[in-house]
Amino acid sequence: MAVYVDSADLEEVREALSAGFVRGVTTNPALIARTGRKPEEIIAAISELWPEELFYQPFSTGAEEAREELERMRDIAGPILVPKIPATWEGLKLLSELAGKGWKCALTAVYSPLQALLAKEAGAFYVIPYVNRATRQGIDGMELVAQISRALQGSKVQIIAASLKSVEEVLGVLSCGAHHVTVPWPLLKAMADHPLSLQAVEEFARVSNSGKEGK
Ligand code: G3P
Repeated sequence: MAVYVDSADLEEVREALSAGFVRGVTTNPALIARTGRKPEEIIAAISELWPEELFYQPFSTGAEEAREELERMRDIAGPILVPKIPATWEGLKLLSELAGKGWKCALTAVYSPLQALLAKEAGAFYVIPYVNRATRQGIDGMELVAQISRALQGSKVQIIAASLKSVEEVLGVLSCGAHHVTVPWPLLKAMADHPLSLQAVEEFARVSNSGKEGK
């Protein structure tokens, strides 16, 4: 399993990558817009923090403009840039073209196993189902991941579960067959900081302080 941080906030990304075990960063237009900075600046700044992979979803909706935008971002970040292309007919065509050039690509905003199967045919490396968003729309997000996992069995396409809002959802998608997860910074912290572990650390600190005072 690889874990990614789903963020374009430079402080969050810096902190997450400094752990040394977070493979990369997933961004989307909303996350980048929230920073108030240009996509080019954000991509340049994140790539200087040396993620193994940096996922970028174009702002442009037309295929031609999206291709140009992705090429521009790849010129900035280099081969760590993974195009994250929305699951539509036009998106699949663009993905097929870029994968044909040897680019590692992801199909994102996946809501059905059929889209995942088409992603495989188009040459995608990753598919990214939106788990919590699916559940909010009345599609069982866990079942969606399980169906995609069954559909892709025997293929090399890997599932990165996204739109995760709780540690329970992270555990759920991993047991349903997701290979990897991308999570917002607060959730990444929550995965590490179990309340009972924090409580144990506090208890040990109290004991060791009272031991020191006794000397
Ligand atoms: O990067 C994809 C993911 O962030 C979208 O889901 O629900 O967190 O906006 P959501």
